[in-house]
Amino acid sequence: MKSALLSRFFILLPWILIVILMLDVDTRRPAPPLTPRPYSVPYAGGRGGARSPPRRGLPGRSAEPRNVSRPPPPAPPLPTIYAITPTYSRPVQKAELTRLANTFRQVAQLHWILVEDAAARSELVSRLLARAGLPSTHLHVPTPRRYKRPGLPRATEQRNAGLAWLRQRHRHSRAHPGVLFFADDDNTYSLELFQEMRTTRKVSVWPVGLVGGRRYERPLVENGRVVGWYTGWRGDRPFAIDMAGFAVSLQVILSNPKAVFKRRGSQPGMQESDFLKQITTVEELEPKANNCTKVLVWHTRTEKVNLANEPKYRLDTVNIEV
Ligand code: UGA
Ligand code: MN
Repeated sequence: MKSALLSRFFILLPWILIVILMLDVDTRRPAPPLTPRPYSVPYAGGRGGARSPPRRGLPGRSAEPRNVSRPPPPAPPLPTIYAITPTYSRPVQKAELTRLANTFRQVAQLHWILVEDAAARSELVSRLLARAGLPSTHLHVPTPRRYKRPGLPRATEQRNAGLAWLRQRHRHSRAHPGVLFFADDDNTYSLELFQEMRTTRKVSVWPVGLVGGRRYERPLVENGRVVGWYTGWRGDRPFAIDMAGFAVSLQVILSNPKAVFKRRGSQPGMQESDFLKQITTVEELEPKANNCTKVLVWHTRTEKVNLANEPKYRLDTVNIEV
């Protein structure tokens, strides 16, 4: 009886040992590192995104195993995105700028250049910018009265003021990498758009929704190159693209100091082409948004509000900013 028990014990013993060993190995496997989440999600292109901090040995613990990989080399700086927004006073202005601020605030390393079409900075815009929670520059320049007519291009002077500020700011230093785009205040921008434009080498392009008399306008791409335009309006434009459909690297802006928006001879809808012609060619354009097959920005154009019931003289003693 005793020997039968003993022989069973010796048969089971190796199995028990194997199970104990396996349990031990499992509990020693290191837990996955806790990676801090980046504060700003939109740019997850590998630079400036989430990286686990270099691990350090805890005091009193034995040294780390030798094969722990070294911390990665410092990431190259994240290019700054400069958004130039011309804006003018009207009932929907604050709503438009609030929508833009709410988007831009979520983008890492974005600098908002807001240019008022006005003789002075307004209190409404100053207050809004102060509370926007993002790096910004507040400029103003009035459009000369003779150009404030329907059928004439808009915001020429304001975009040029933004360009002049950028060139002035970087006149001495070797510029930190940057990308510029023209963010009109009546558009809606997806966060993905900023990931796309951030990698612009010279001039990049993408589709724009609700523009050109169609659901979208887009550059036509073949083998990674722009070969034409899908548009419902004046397909003969050299760059049949909306202001919201391209970005330019800061380097290109600085190395073409004379490239500006022109009043002379310019027609509405031709400003984009007139400007792009000065700095690039169609062959050189870098298609973004999956070879220009995704709409990431929309020309939403807030409806003009009907204020027919607005009293002529102020009847309310409370003065509320709208
Ligand atoms: C279209 C294009 O989308 C614009 O990029 C282009 O500048 C314009 O045509 C043009 O050809 O001039 P559209 O919707 O007709 O735009 O123009 P708005 O969106 O009313 O104006 C473009 C930008 O200029 C806006 O950010 C707007 O706030 C600003 N703006 C407009 C002024 O600063 N002053 C004005 O008197 C009018
Ligand atoms: Mn517009």
